[in-house]
Amino acid sequence: MTELPDSLHPLVRPRRLRTTPGLRRVVAETRLHPADLVLPMFVREGATEPVEIASMPGVVQHSLDSFKAALVEAAEAGIGGVMLFGVPEKKDAVGSGAVDPKGILNVATRTAVATAGDALVIQTDLCLDEFTDHGHCGVLRPSKSLKGAPEVDNDATLEVYRQMGLAQAEAGSHLLGLSGMMDGQVAAVRNALDGGGYENTPILAYSAKYASAFYGPFREAVQSSLVGDRRTYQLDPANAREGLREVEIDIAEGADIVMVKPAGGYLDVLAETASISSVPVWAYQVSGEYSMIEAAAANGWIDRERAIHESVLSIRRAGADVVLTYFAVELAHSLRVPARRTGRRAK
Ligand code: PBG
Repeated sequence: MTELPDSLHPLVRPRRLRTTPGLRRVVAETRLHPADLVLPMFVREGATEPVEIASMPGVVQHSLDSFKAALVEAAEAGIGGVMLFGVPEKKDAVGSGAVDPKGILNVATRTAVATAGDALVIQTDLCLDEFTDHGHCGVLRPSKSLKGAPEVDNDATLEVYRQMGLAQAEAGSHLLGLSGMMDGQVAAVRNALDGGGYENTPILAYSAKYASAFYGPFREAVQSSLVGDRRTYQLDPANAREGLREVEIDIAEGADIVMVKPAGGYLDVLAETASISSVPVWAYQVSGEYSMIEAAAANGWIDRERAIHESVLSIRRAGADVVLTYFAVELAHSLRVPARRTGRRAK
């Protein structure tokens, strides 16, 4: 038994380190830096003006012109990079626009590399859902076990991913973001890249990607035609161990970076991933996480700037080296260190 202290005063006072702004600042364990932020961006084929996304106030589908201006702004803000998504005019069953060098994502990639490729890491979403008329992340076939009902054909999709990877590398993408959750996708794309002379193009694997309701606003952002859901390939939100298994498999297949997505609801998976991963760990604060903050702030229910900072800081604290967030540029601006006033005049 420990003896109770004979005085009523606490022996240990953690509050001491919280007494002044200076002390709180110097003992902070986690800091945000613009270089650790990546901005997801949408580019819409044929658009002459930026098009607002109703469920994501402040985020737009860019025209090529507004895209260039936004890239310059992102570079000036000092963020680490951008993740590009294409919104094509036409879609088909096999997502042809994804492998076409003139497809909107590949065009946008060339534009981005030419405009800001020295300042930003230009990253591309490697997945078919933006390009297929059925909205799935892969091509479909009639299922044998399910009496002909359509199912996503894993191995046929890998063939398309290989071509898509080559098209993106050829367009100049600095980092391929594999977000389709097909088995073997990292190995397949790695093999295609190496065979095409792109052995130095790195892969960001969306390894622990969950079938999440929080992607809702993104579906509007890319005008997704999906009916149903992605539960036969994305992870069940109930499963943490399975997420870690996906991380291990992707690292074994050659992933250069692994990702956990969404971020806010999966900080446990993120922390465990950070503790086992031998490669950098990133996390994606997804569209629904963005929209919830915007909606609550618009109602005056939360302090918008503090909520943005706290949400991204929490993702970093849990173990993400880099955070993909629609707040990236605004947050980077807010991180500019103000000159600290001494209250004295220099002599
Ligand atoms: C797939 C992809 C999705 C998101 C990023 N990549 C949609 C999905 O898997 O359903 C969602 C991102 C967000 O919600 O912000 N191409």
